[in-house]
Amino acid sequence: MNGQVEEVFGGHTVVKAFNREEAVIKTFSESNRVLYTSAWKSQFLSGLMMPVMAFVGNLGYVAVTVSGAFFAAQGAIAIGDIPAFIMYIKQFTQPVQQIAQVAGMLQSTAAAAERVFEFLEEPEELAQPAHHAVREVAQLAGDVRFEHVHFGYHPDKIIIQDFTAEVKQGQKVAIVGPTGAGKTTIVKLLMRFYDLNSGKISVDDCDLSTFTRDEVRSIFGMVLQDTWLFKGTIMENIRYGRLDATDEEVIAAAKSAHVHNFIQTLPDGYQMELNEDATNVSQGQKQLLTIARAILAKNKIMILDEATSSVDTRTEIRIQKAMDNLLRGRTSFVIAHRLSTIRDADLILVMKDGDIIEQGNHEELMQQGGFYCELYNAQFDRVS
Ligand SMILES: Nc1ncnc2c1ncn2[C@@H]1O[C@H](COP(=O)(O)OP(=O)(O)OP(=O)(O)O)[C@@H](O)[C@H]1O
Ligand SMILES: [Mg+2]
Repeated sequence: MNGQVEEVFGGHTVVKAFNREEAVIKTFSESNRVLYTSAWKSQFLSGLMMPVMAFVGNLGYVAVTVSGAFFAAQGAIAIGDIPAFIMYIKQFTQPVQQIAQVAGMLQSTAAAAERVFEFLEEPEELAQPAHHAVREVAQLAGDVRFEHVHFGYHPDKIIIQDFTAEVKQGQKVAIVGPTGAGKTTIVKLLMRFYDLNSGKISVDDCDLSTFTRDEVRSIFGMVLQDTWLFKGTIMENIRYGRLDATDEEVIAAAKSAHVHNFIQTLPDGYQMELNEDATNVSQGQKQLLTIARAILAKNKIMILDEATSSVDTRTEIRIQKAMDNLLRGRTSFVIAHRLSTIRDADLILVMKDGDIIEQGNHEELMQQGGFYCELYNAQFDRVS
């Protein structure tokens, strides 16, 4: 019930927009009814326990008294034995009654414990690598190599079959491909959000799995496809990239990301509070804020997954220039659907169904006239 309420509350505008109020109320009433019947039953039955047990206990008294009277009449036992037996019965039934009282509670505890243990029994990810890397993170230059990477979110549904690629330090690498090709997946593997099924990803010949996860994440700066901002001021949100940054550094990063002007038009400027889901700024502005955050973090390797997809083309070009300055000498991975933005990449990896089907720079790929050429032209031709 709580889950359902939360879901509907979160998707309130969608429910309204599609006129689904009645349907939602109906599903709610249905689960409410199911909950009502089961709660009613459980309350009734556990309430019944007490009187039933008391009744059974009383039957015991009757049996003892009747048979006691019989034996006493025959002279087999003394009168005093009867109250003694009644005491015994009391002592025996009291704990049983107490157990009956908490039986309902025990059952709901068991149901809750099942869920808690399900969660606790999940295998934990290894915090420390078995062998530690030979190099410190600070010494890394930024060569990245993928060797026969094989991965699936579920073992029986493999998404990345055999991904092999080599990236030199300082290169700007673009990953392009149709929706669902596995571009974001590659990025997640790079950040070690998931572990590979087999194969290897290495930075400067050091296997990524020999670093701790913290170290891996300090190598990469990223702007992900789904922007994430938290409730707090804009200043705090940008500073999240590097917590010890001064106000001036935050403002400089905002200028590079071309959000400074926008922030200044806000009533409280950098002190404006973003709300829970950051719905009080536009989608493109959210992207710019996350870019500013990544710029501030200054990591060795940058990952931009559709970072400017909601930004207008003019601002996009400006950000790109700023980025190019910033990323000079640093390896970067750029994922973009607007292929015009990655024309100047040193290496373009064209992915389809989890594999690289073509690679090279823009001119080479256009000359080949393959899948990339088709994708590229599709963006400028009018579909007839
Ligand atoms: N957490 C997940 N669990 C299971 N399958 C997933 C998960 N995330 C992605 N997938 C599947 O993996 C495949 C590749 O997804 P991915 O997000 O890498 O695509 P993409 O190339 O980034 O697409 P887009 O251009 O839309 O961003 C898809 O078929 C998707 O359904
Ligand atoms: Mg993606």
